[in-house]
Amino acid sequence: MAEHDIELTVNGTDHELTVDSRTLLVHALRDELGYTGTNVGCESSTCGACTVHLDGDAVKSCTVLAVQADGSEADTVEGLAEDGTYAPIQEGFQKEHGLQCGYCTPGMMLAANDLLERNSDPDEAEIREAIEGNLCRCTGYQNIVNAVEFAADEMSAEATATDGGGDD
Ligand code: FES
Ligand code: FES
Repeated sequence: MAEHDIELTVNGTDHELTVDSRTLLVHALRDELGYTGTNVGCESSTCGACTVHLDGDAVKSCTVLAVQADGSEADTVEGLAEDGTYAPIQEGFQKEHGLQCGYCTPGMMLAANDLLERNSDPDEAEIREAIEGNLCRCTGYQNIVNAVEFAADEMSAEATATDGGGDD
């Protein structure tokens, strides 16, 4: 089995690690680097539990080889909160009861953030389309949609506050 030395930046922290040719990114994150917040479900690109951001885009990390991610920046659920404060998407899931068992939640939040970075004011159909690759067996999805809408509103309010109210 060939081994490769790769570099991966995760949530802003640089890592160097050695992986097999066949090691999946999700296993490198979880087993080699300890970012166990990213869950593994189907390992076949169906459930979305393993969704992370890679160089800014949401990817299913069970479909990416670790060697393919060499030199990239990955963002995982562990990187969402800042200084102990929940990110808007986390606050949304909490306030809107967007989770039950929580298994899908890290991937859902990363998929939702990918949408919110492209579209700050998505409608319900756009939210449902953005998370259609992420399966949840508990919630029935409506509360997840509500959580994403909450996050969009929160981010919009934060942007307005940062702009000084936007009136001048
Ligand atoms: Fe990656 Fe299911 S574990 S999509
Ligand atoms: Fe259980 Fe989504 S909250 S799978």
